[in-house]
Amino acid sequence: MGILAAVTGPLGEFAATASFPVVLAATFTAFVVVSVVLNVLHQLLFKKPKEPPVVFHWFPVIGSTITYGMDPYRFFFENRAKYGDVFTFVLLGKKNTVCLDTTGNNFILNGKLRDVNAEEIYNPLCGPVFGKDVVYDCPNAKLMEQKKFVKFGLTQDALRSYVTLITAEVEDFLKRHQAFKGQKGTFDVPKVMAELTIYTASRTLQGEEVRNSFDSSFAALYHDLDGGFSPVNFMLSWAPLPHNRKRDNAHNKMIEVYSSIVEKRRSGAVKKDSHDMIWHLMECKYKDGTPVPNHEIAGIMIALLMAGQHSSSSTIAWILLRLASKPELLEELLEEQKTVLGADLPPLTQDDLSRLPLHSQTVKETLRIHAPIHSIMRKVKQPMVVDGTNYTVPAGRTLMSSPGTSAQMDRHFVNPSVWDPHRWDAGQHDYDDADNDDVEKIDYGWGVVSKGTNSPYLPFGAGRHRCIGEQFAYVQLQTILCAFVREFRVRNVGGGREVVGTDYSSLFSRPLAPAVVEWERRN
Ligand code: HEM
Repeated sequence: MGILAAVTGPLGEFAATASFPVVLAATFTAFVVVSVVLNVLHQLLFKKPKEPPVVFHWFPVIGSTITYGMDPYRFFFENRAKYGDVFTFVLLGKKNTVCLDTTGNNFILNGKLRDVNAEEIYNPLCGPVFGKDVVYDCPNAKLMEQKKFVKFGLTQDALRSYVTLITAEVEDFLKRHQAFKGQKGTFDVPKVMAELTIYTASRTLQGEEVRNSFDSSFAALYHDLDGGFSPVNFMLSWAPLPHNRKRDNAHNKMIEVYSSIVEKRRSGAVKKDSHDMIWHLMECKYKDGTPVPNHEIAGIMIALLMAGQHSSSSTIAWILLRLASKPELLEELLEEQKTVLGADLPPLTQDDLSRLPLHSQTVKETLRIHAPIHSIMRKVKQPMVVDGTNYTVPAGRTLMSSPGTSAQMDRHFVNPSVWDPHRWDAGQHDYDDADNDDVEKIDYGWGVVSKGTNSPYLPFGAGRHRCIGEQFAYVQLQTILCAFVREFRVRNVGGGREVVGTDYSSLFSRPLAPAVVEWERRN
């Protein structure tokens, strides 16, 4: 009673004399202090030895959201040093268990369907963007069939035609874009490369009609639809917020655009004269004989556009930024083209790409340091013992894998932070290659892929959700690189060797903008 009086006495006096905002602020501060104390006590007193250690954090709900969000790789490495390869952290109020290095990559990415699930994590975000009955808005078996359709649509004939189309797009772009007027100048690499990537991807995979509409209405629709991927939508994708209204409106209009292209083609008004994915999907049938309905063709095309755009545009931007910091490598690339293809640099073909190892190693090395997807998530469906540990993760927990972290570990790569395309000269760590006889292979129903079990280098993921766009991305990135090397020299403004930092504020890691470099046209 005495203690109560001692406490409430001054507080009561304070409440009587202080203004309402001051009381509110004091109450809030008291609430925060009590929550922090309880949260810290909970972490210290209620450790669960059978579960992975939890990264220490002061604030409940916020947990490690800020440190993780600012730089996920630094967060992973720092906590790996403290807790080992397996640890849990709180992200926006939810517990996420991270499993690093090759064992962790394999445990999560090659997890069994009955144990781990992708669609429950991704669909709240992707469903409203991609649409009904496609990708994560359908049972996994259906996604596997849809992946098969796309993978089998990327035939050698299709890829061959894409090299010519991409080269034409790039040449035209480098001639007419306002950033490249005259003999030399500067350009903001991520911004300009995002534009070029979407033109090349749309001209090849999406077809001529979609490519042409990118010069007008489609670009704005794409922009609004892309707003659906803002990180806040991991929690609020259902909310009637302005960016979600724009997303839904853009989605409906885009479905109409694709459906009308399909209708027109089906009516015979347009002749098949290209290898785009719309034509291919129009000919595909599910195992039960059902053709792919129009809204699913539209949804798959939107998914391909969105999945490919961010990853490829940030990768080509990083390639150019890295080359600007090491211009001598750009000259080596030109030399490679001249030596292999001839000093007159004839038009590039798909067969040429495999004869230009330094070009593909430049893409490969850039993906090692700058993998666009830093965190891959799955939901645990039933308690699982984490490989190589005695820890059990409960059902409902989110698992997080980061192959980009193993790709930057010094136990796998010498001087891992150094960007050096020549590190791949001897073909070391070439585990992601499904043609390599030395690696374990698997077929989830959409073609044979390497399992990636022991690989520290998995920029395209592994397991049933592995990327289907790898081959296309290599064709696209190498072709853009070849055309660029022929046309331009680039270097950092002032000639320094620095490289901009990474922007992790969206779901994909990309160069911090603006990232401006100097270009000079070759004659
Ligand atoms: C999935 C990386 C380009 C289509 C993935 C995943 C990764 C990845 C890591 C696995 C995600 C997970 O397991 O949750 C990349 C990189 C690219 C690239 C680094 C380029 C440099 C593309 C392109 C396309 C594409 C060009 C389309 C043509 C997809 C699709 C999935 C996917 C549809 C989802 C597959 C599934 O969940 O089963 N990508 N990607 N990607 N990628 Fe890519």
